[in-house]
Amino acid sequence: MSQLESLREAARVSPDNIPLQMLFGEACLNEFAADEAMGAFQQVLKLNPSHPEARIGLARALHHTGRTSEAVVRLEALVAERPELSAAWLHLSRFLMAEGLRDQAKACYEKSLALPGGLPDPALEQELYLRGGTEKPSDSKGLGRVTSEGWEAPIATEERGFSGSPMGADGFDGIEQPDLNFDDIGGMEPVKEEIRMKIIYPLKNPDLFRAYGKKAGGGVLLYGPPGCGKTLISRATAGEIEANFLSIGIHQILDLYIGESEKNLHKLFELARDNAPAILFFDEVDALAADRRDLRKSAGRTLINQFLAEMDGNVASNDGLLILGATNAPWHIDPAFRRPGRFDRILFVPPPDEEAREAIITILAKGKPVSQLDARSLAQKTRNFSGADLKAIFDTAVERSLAQAMKQGQVVPITQRDLLDVAKSIRSSTQAWFESAKNYALYSNQGGFYNDVLAFLGIKK
Ligand SMILES: Nc1ncnc2c1ncn2[C@@H]1O[C@H](COP(=O)(O)OP(=O)(O)O)[C@@H](O)[C@H]1O
Ligand SMILES: [Mg+2]
Repeated sequence: MSQLESLREAARVSPDNIPLQMLFGEACLNEFAADEAMGAFQQVLKLNPSHPEARIGLARALHHTGRTSEAVVRLEALVAERPELSAAWLHLSRFLMAEGLRDQAKACYEKSLALPGGLPDPALEQELYLRGGTEKPSDSKGLGRVTSEGWEAPIATEERGFSGSPMGADGFDGIEQPDLNFDDIGGMEPVKEEIRMKIIYPLKNPDLFRAYGKKAGGGVLLYGPPGCGKTLISRATAGEIEANFLSIGIHQILDLYIGESEKNLHKLFELARDNAPAILFFDEVDALAADRRDLRKSAGRTLINQFLAEMDGNVASNDGLLILGATNAPWHIDPAFRRPGRFDRILFVPPPDEEAREAIITILAKGKPVSQLDARSLAQKTRNFSGADLKAIFDTAVERSLAQAMKQGQVVPITQRDLLDVAKSIRSSTQAWFESAKNYALYSNQGGFYNDVLAFLGIKK
């Protein structure tokens, strides 16, 4: 059964399962089954009439079937009620643009970008600002491109990096030699061991590997809930083997100018090859696959093909080049990426268990004025917390203590009580992820892809 078929079957059997209906609706949209998508979102709205994502989904389905003006009306109602929803503004912008209402579309796009969680849409941006637009292309903040000297901003803006870019500050930061290693990471022992086996030992003992008929190379894909150390351990891997580290968010590769994305990607691989041994780290790889079925369908496909060719070493030798990817949404990843020689080792990065939390807490407390830390008992009281959630406890406690210190003119130690108090006010962020993951694991577990997730949840296969 294809993923869509399994979801259809599951959705039919469990009409009241909202997350499942949402997944099914989304999958239908991806496969251009607009009528079915509409049915799924309407089903959700029957159960919960204000469900914002379902309302957006329904509007998207309407747009797919040519009922764009109805989609606009519905989203205008939604943003009037919930002006904080960046995704609603973004889709409204797309539909307005499709209706030829460029100025209104621009205003909505800018609203969406300004909101938390607002993501740029290069293809839409191109339509809004470039094609026959009033602004000069140089005004639209281009993405920059990779050259042999590094990553350069577009010529027009002369500044390096992405600071003026709507792509956010998390772009390509050049070549880095991270000064952290596995000791700076609490827990994650199974992941560390896999990375040693797949990346570190082969690099250190290439002959030994060949003697067993094994080929070094290929990539490792890390997936799991946000904030559990995927990005961190990737940087630490580079530190561990003293390799260069090149990190790139996929959104930074998608260029405003069609056809430039492939070139950017190629240049990035070349830059990494020139600086081998190097780790090329693709953060949020799912963006690549998700974009493919979007408006940018055909452009996305060539980019994926370019990516695969570079990974396969068809373009140039990848000796000394290690490829890591990370994603919170493995279900969006094109299966072609999982073939041998590509991301052929897929690792689930779970939230830290109690012992790992204790280790992370100890690491986080280092260098801070914490008095009488009891890492064990804090770990016991932070079930389901991610590493990022634990970090948030310390960040907040530090802020509070600093505010006091400013008033008193002296250091005010952070106590165990402070930490426990703050912990109570922070909600663990990993559960939402497991709600989605569980549905994929139960209903679309092709090739046992999600067995680790099921095992973690204590569900028998
Ligand atoms: N195992 C860990 N050990 C120490 N710190 C951690 C760990 N996991 C997460 N953190 C903290 O949480 C932050 C976010 O982690 P990150 O690697 O960005 O998560 P992900 O990439 O999985 O979303 C890190 O910068 C670090 O401060
Ligand atoms: Mg990350």
